[in-house]
Amino acid sequence: STRALADRYGRVATDLRVSLTDRCNLRCSYCMPAEGLDWLPNDDVLTDDEVVRLIGVAVRQLGIREVRFTGGEPLVRRGLVDIVGRTKAIDPTVEASLTTNALGLSRQAAALAAAGLDRVNVSLDTLRADTFETITRRDRYPDVIAGLEAAKAAGLSPVKINAVLLRGINDDEAPDLVRWAIDEGYDLRFIEQMPLDAQHGWSRTGMVTADEIFAKLADVFELTPHGEPRGSAPAELFLVDGGPATVGVIASVTRPFCGDCDRVRLTADGQVRNCLFAREESDLRAALRAGATDEEIADRWVTAMAGKRAGHGIDDPSFLQPDRPMSAIGG
Ligand code: GTP
Ligand code: 5AD
Ligand code: SF4
Repeated sequence: STRALADRYGRVATDLRVSLTDRCNLRCSYCMPAEGLDWLPNDDVLTDDEVVRLIGVAVRQLGIREVRFTGGEPLVRRGLVDIVGRTKAIDPTVEASLTTNALGLSRQAAALAAAGLDRVNVSLDTLRADTFETITRRDRYPDVIAGLEAAKAAGLSPVKINAVLLRGINDDEAPDLVRWAIDEGYDLRFIEQMPLDAQHGWSRTGMVTADEIFAKLADVFELTPHGEPRGSAPAELFLVDGGPATVGVIASVTRPFCGDCDRVRLTADGQVRNCLFAREESDLRAALRAGATDEEIADRWVTAMAGKRAGHGIDDPSFLQPDRPMSAIGG
């Protein structure tokens, strides 16, 4: 039997984001400190079998149609290729995608495509190797480019690029990123920074806004709204110089899209989060390890969604950043 993951505002989750690890091999300054974080203990992290079982419940009983694997960095998870293959085996019509920093993707892209992965979104904030090292604290720019090339070659398309602009660091690169992405055939999106960094250093004035991004791009390109309906996609698309190339802006803060949200998240330690900014989680790992049936897990999941709030509330005076940072939620 299928039930919907519905909330009391009429939204239905059909898109599951599965974090496979909270660990990462970069140390982006807007995400975590140089020394890293206290990673989840191994015993708390769901096993491959547990992850696949929960995805099975979500797809077979709860109407999930898209599964996105995130992290931390999902490519550091040993069982990734296997998990992707077993996800597609549950239902080949479910779309499987990956959000990654692309380190090591050159070695795994072909195997991931063979396992049934449909597409990848790659995080890349700069085209300058030195700026890359400034932002990520690692000298790995060439690995990202190699990963992107491998994704293209493996047919993991469309390849989308996620770029966060940081004032005074890479915010002069917006037009260069657009030109490069068009030349290489990638779908670029600029992202507004959200208050989800482990250091709690986010500030509204520090964040580069969608309006600022438009202003920078408008100096160089003509941007016109993309005609097609946006649906539940976080990115608002614009045609560049009349198209067909597009650039996207994910303006979570200044133009929230929570009213159309179709997402639900599963953390690497088996907690359901009904929103990126949820303050409560539902412990599916405990249920699983206590011997719950698929039916019982589905019940818990349905209940967890019913408590989803209308929106992130970043502008509310009572807003509190969630305890779990972005790297432990998966974005
Ligand atoms: P596509 O389906 O390929 O468009 O993926 P996506 O853009 O939804 O996902 P991706 O993992 O590439 O995330 C890009 C940015 O959007 C990241 O900064 C995410 O944190 C953010 N994002 C993804 N989903 C949500 C969401 O439901 N709410 C908010 N506020 N931000 C989101
Ligand atoms: N706000 C918005 N996006 C963020 N990302 C990481 N931290 C944040 C944040 N605080 C981006 C990464 C990656 C994507 C998954 O999320 O740069 O591209
Ligand atoms: Fe959905 Fe929460 Fe993101 Fe809003 S902030 S779009 S409700 S996950």
